[in-house]
Amino acid sequence: MTIAVIGSIHVDFYIKTPKFPQPDETVLGKEFAMYPGGKGANQAVGCARLGVRTYMLSAVGDDFFGKIMVENLSKNNVVTDYIYVAKGVHTGVAFIILNEVSKENMIIVAPGADEAITPDYVENTLSSLTPRAVLTQLEIPIQTVYKTLEIGKKIDAITVLNPSPVKYLSSEIYKYVDVIIPNRVELQQLTGIEVRTEEDVFKAGECLLSRGVKVVVATLGARGAAVITYDKKKIVEAFKVDVVDTVGAGDAFAAGLAVALVEGRDIEEAVRFANAVAALKVTRMGAQSMPYREEVEKFLKKYL
Ligand code: RIB
Repeated sequence: MTIAVIGSIHVDFYIKTPKFPQPDETVLGKEFAMYPGGKGANQAVGCARLGVRTYMLSAVGDDFFGKIMVENLSKNNVVTDYIYVAKGVHTGVAFIILNEVSKENMIIVAPGADEAITPDYVENTLSSLTPRAVLTQLEIPIQTVYKTLEIGKKIDAITVLNPSPVKYLSSEIYKYVDVIIPNRVELQQLTGIEVRTEEDVFKAGECLLSRGVKVVVATLGARGAAVITYDKKKIVEAFKVDVVDTVGAGDAFAAGLAVALVEGRDIEEAVRFANAVAALKVTRMGAQSMPYREEVEKFLKKYL
């Protein structure tokens, strides 16, 4: 069983702060740290640590960061053979402000080499692989995302889209998506439906189903996640943990869900597994502090 992740690779620059700055304000923050990041890379590491052979289809710049980020993926058992080194551009970076009081974060990304992940590149690489699932996000060019999902269906893979950061998606594309994983805000932006209550979540989820998506799994933070299919509407509760850093929580969830689906679990069981992966991630610093399979199994046993 294999998964192909098509997405970004970043270096994350974190600063912890007791409060977010306002426009034109300087705030003295606390610790600074650098971690590997990028939604694509985070999800790939998440899948690999859960024990599934994982291909990373991505690009880095021809700089020092690119080399280190590829080495980091390799160390995590992600297959890096297909990662493209784009000439004359920098590896993607993200600046992250982590509010240690509210536990909220603000992220700004300079995509750099993410932009070099082209539809042709995906056509040439993904078509030659036979992954059981294809997992992608929206930090790469939108035409590349479309090509990924289209090829994903052609090669009979389960296609999973994490629509983050949200972008307009053409109506044509939804029919290539087996599972979409938006958070509450993304669900609202994709559908134009105001999402406040659980009823709103279900209504907006149904809207995505009507566009051609087969399963909607909406992540709802501390509340858990909603599963919306033609015959099921259900909230799967989150696990309660002490939160340290929520950056990468959505990536941990997406990785957990993709792995569980590849293993043939039913959707509710898959969401419970994904909730556990995300719960363990948020107890640690860094977007890529993804749990290993044994930790997740041990954690889930406590809740049997
Ligand atoms: O989802 C978290 C990720 O978003 C970070 O690692 C950062 O690089 C941005 O891509």
